[in-house]
Amino acid sequence: MVHNSQEQESTKRNESLVELKGVAKRFLSGSEELVILNSIDLKLPEKLVTVITGESGCGKTTLLNIIGGLETPSSGSVDVAGYAVQALDEEGLTEYRRRVVGLVFQFHYLLKDFNALENILLPGYMAGLTRAAARERAAHLLDQVGLSARAEHYPTQLSGGERQRIALARALMNDPDIVLADEPTGNLDERNSRAVQDTLFELVRGFGKTLIMVTHDAGIAASGDRRFHLEQGSLYTA
Ligand SMILES: Nc1ncnc2c1ncn2[C@@H]1O[C@H](COP(=O)(O)OP(=O)(O)OP(=O)(O)O)[C@@H](O)[C@H]1O
Ligand SMILES: [Mg+2]
Repeated sequence: MVHNSQEQESTKRNESLVELKGVAKRFLSGSEELVILNSIDLKLPEKLVTVITGESGCGKTTLLNIIGGLETPSSGSVDVAGYAVQALDEEGLTEYRRRVVGLVFQFHYLLKDFNALENILLPGYMAGLTRAAARERAAHLLDQVGLSARAEHYPTQLSGGERQRIALARALMNDPDIVLADEPTGNLDERNSRAVQDTLFELVRGFGKTLIMVTHDAGIAASGDRRFHLEQGSLYTA
């Protein structure tokens, strides 16, 4: 097939949804400098599931937070969906986090005074959807994670696996380009862990999303399209 140069250019731009160049993260600990991330280069196309494994303390959350605009790198560049994330000001970061990324954390962080449906719809409401539109989309997502019957349940009335599935639905509320998941099955028993992982993978693949997931669980990594291992500040293809 023959492309004109403009088409080639746009294909090239679309090739990497995420591109990290020389990303480093260092912390000062007393007079010593701790190098958590050394010089990470990473290019990811859209619509793939990437799993990054590594031992506790190796910097997985730090890396994910940098991609999600929750932490700033000490040096290097982070380009995601056309945003130069490391250079955004607070306002830019708020927009980036709201529009581009959906976050699923190790601990669900559901708001205890809101029921399941409300927890899912809140990010949409905050992004400017009308109450009715937010409710409709949240109800659809609740159905997608198989929990329509739990709409009125508060977080304390849900099982651990159910809470994580609500957190997945919440992450998808604003239709993000990319879902970032930090050990979303970390606190669950094996059966629930499997169910949440399956739901997560089905949802991101079904909605054509890009997923980056970090985990210490090498078993989960096998299901990813791309696999990396983080060790001593460097990222290796696994
Ligand atoms: N604000 C901080 N100041 C100093 N050191 C920090 C800070 N945040 C994280 N660290 C250190 O950076 C390292 C990486 O932390 P990180 O949370 O990214 O690890 P992780 O791979 O996600 O671990 P886990 O699997 O246990 O969640 C740890 O050694 C941690 O102590
Ligand atoms: Mg972590």
